Amino acid sequence: MIGQHGMGPKAPLYSAFQRWQELNNWLVQHREFWQPAPFMTPEPAWAGSYPELAAMVAGLSDSDCEHLNEAPEELARQTSRFVPSLTGYAELIQVPQLSPSGAKVAEATLPEVRATDMPGRKRLQSGAFSASLAPLEHPALDWCCGKGHLSRTLAPLCPGDIQGYEWNPELVRDGNRLARQFGDPVSIACQDVMSSELTLPGDLHGVALHACGDLHRQLLRRGSEAGLPRLSISPCCYHLAGEEIYRPLSEKASGHGGLLQPSRSDLRLAVRETVTAPARVRAQTSLVSQWRLGFDGLQRDLRGCDEYLPVPSHPARLMHEGFPAFCRWAAEKRHIEMPGDTDFDAWLEFGAERQAQVRRHELVRHLFRRPLELWVVWDYAVFLEEQGYRVRLGQFCDRALTPRNLLIDAIRVSVIDSPA
Ligand SMILES: C[S@@+](CC[C@H](N)C(=O)[O-])C[C@H]1O[C@@H](n2cnc3c(N)ncnc32)[C@H](O)[C@@H]1O
Repeated sequence: MIGQHGMGPKAPLYSAFQRWQELNNWLVQHREFWQPAPFMTPEPAWAGSYPELAAMVAGLSDSDCEHLNEAPEELARQTSRFVPSLTGYAELIQVPQLSPSGAKVAEATLPEVRATDMPGRKRLQSGAFSASLAPLEHPALDWCCGKGHLSRTLAPLCPGDIQGYEWNPELVRDGNRLARQFGDPVSIACQDVMSSELTLPGDLHGVALHACGDLHRQLLRRGSEAGLPRLSISPCCYHLAGEEIYRPLSEKASGHGGLLQPSRSDLRLAVRETVTAPARVRAQTSLVSQWRLGFDGLQRDLRGCDEYLPVPSHPARLMHEGFPAFCRWAAEKRHIEMPGDTDFDAWLEFGAERQAQVRRHELVRHLFRRPLELWVVWDYAVFLEEQGYRVRLGQFCDRALTPRNLLIDAIRVSVIDSPA
């Protein structure tokens, strides 16, 4: 596998493993910026080592924060004045665009009249994913296919019937009904893809759009073991894994000295996105976070211990009862005695200040989302190479359509060398 790293005509060519190594070493080097969660850590170590960076983010307006959160390359450029090792950020996260021109994507997308039950974004994502794979040369197996939206989109591009695997019987029933209604050559089987008894037919093109964590890793492992001629996967929810500490799949990465060993909760960072909930829901979430941060300051003060204490989820009624009631409830849950003269207004104000700080520290932390995601996915590419595949890794659509826009597309080398 060769990936072009860097934009310029003289940019050197890097192997998948070199890309992975570079990310691994860079993430290890910058651990202090992304591992501590700002919600729990008011004074991250980096704010002491990089006071100019801390001052710069503290001085950002809310609208700057909003803009920069969606523009990590610009933020990296601005902050590289204080942290020179952020200079190569854009190159570090660069991957090629795998989708063809807009017209070809539009052609591959199901028209709205055939997109029953299919949310608008799913229709467009499925179209962009399918267009990026064309031409297909084998019948396809759609892994964790839900109602088979991708299957039905791929059907006209596919030389044979499409088989879907999905374990939710309602989705299986609805998906098969939709396929019948529109005359698509798609059939969905009720199948637990994690079952050890599952035997994969060896001649199918395995596809998976947004199968979570261990589900897509199962297709990588089982699909390559079965020697499937092609595997095309857009992964998501990397942190949904059976193991607490994440281990890379490839032998090369697993044997690397100085290996990053992220926990499940570290990996969650890779898929943290700005919540695009309705304004009313966002306002409520923001209030809850202010209350929780206010209570966090208060509990540290009362206990005389500068340590975060997790508080369980609260009953909805508390939202109508106000901050003092929330604090009394949380204190009782954590067995803390609340003095009668507690100045709740002051702690509420403290919560608002912490919230502004958390937002700015999160901005710095969010710079590391894509590198962490790419660290996981470049290892998948190395793994597939080790299993005898030639791999492309890139984006199948713009981030605006889905932030989970990476596509790993692998063709078994013997298939390339001796086409059927
Ligand atoms: C995020 S959805 C993606 C659905 C579909 N690929 C799409 O893009 O519309 C993940 C799907 O995996 C299914 N799923 C979860 N665990 C599964 C398992 N063990 N075996 C089969 N399907 C599973 C869920 O029911 C769900 O439909």
